[in-house]
Amino acid sequence: MAYKAVVITVSDRCSRGEATDTSGPAIVEMVTAEGYEVIHTEIVPDEKERIREVLIRCADEMKADLIFTTGGTGFSKRDVTPDVTKEVVERETPGIPEAMLFESLKVTPRAMLSRMAAGIRGDSLIVNLPGSEKAARENLGAILGTMEHALHMMAGKGH
Ligand code: MTE
Repeated sequence: MAYKAVVITVSDRCSRGEATDTSGPAIVEMVTAEGYEVIHTEIVPDEKERIREVLIRCADEMKADLIFTTGGTGFSKRDVTPDVTKEVVERETPGIPEAMLFESLKVTPRAMLSRMAAGIRGDSLIVNLPGSEKAARENLGAILGTMEHALHMMAGKGH
């Protein structure tokens, strides 16, 4: 059975309909091509409470195996996605953002301006990606192939 994935777009402008979300659909396309079943997508504003609620609902109620967020990882005051992610996970998985940064720095020094976090809540792995489609694609491309092994390990299936 395919692992279940969710894609959450965190953006004030997209949530108000002032901008078109292209990052969320790009992530859906990439994870679907990798064999995951995308069971839900949602757009929320850069509000801590809204982000917290959707992450908890996707993990605890929808039982998503993999939860990707896109957006809100930068340095502006409203970029709070990583902070909420760190609050809702039980264990952080720093190797995932480190791997993305390592690959992304080969593309642009601006990669250092993303504060992406990742971690495990229950049986779900939550991974932050930056907001632009280009950045989301590049970062996801660095880790996607390794996610299945991570989920196997979380399910206690070993190597
Ligand atoms: N990572 C990659 N691979 N490629 C990029 O173009 N853009 C950076 C960074 N990470 C980028 C990237 C930039 S310019 C910013 S400001 C941060 O991601 C944060 O983006 P966010 O606030 O949209 O999440």
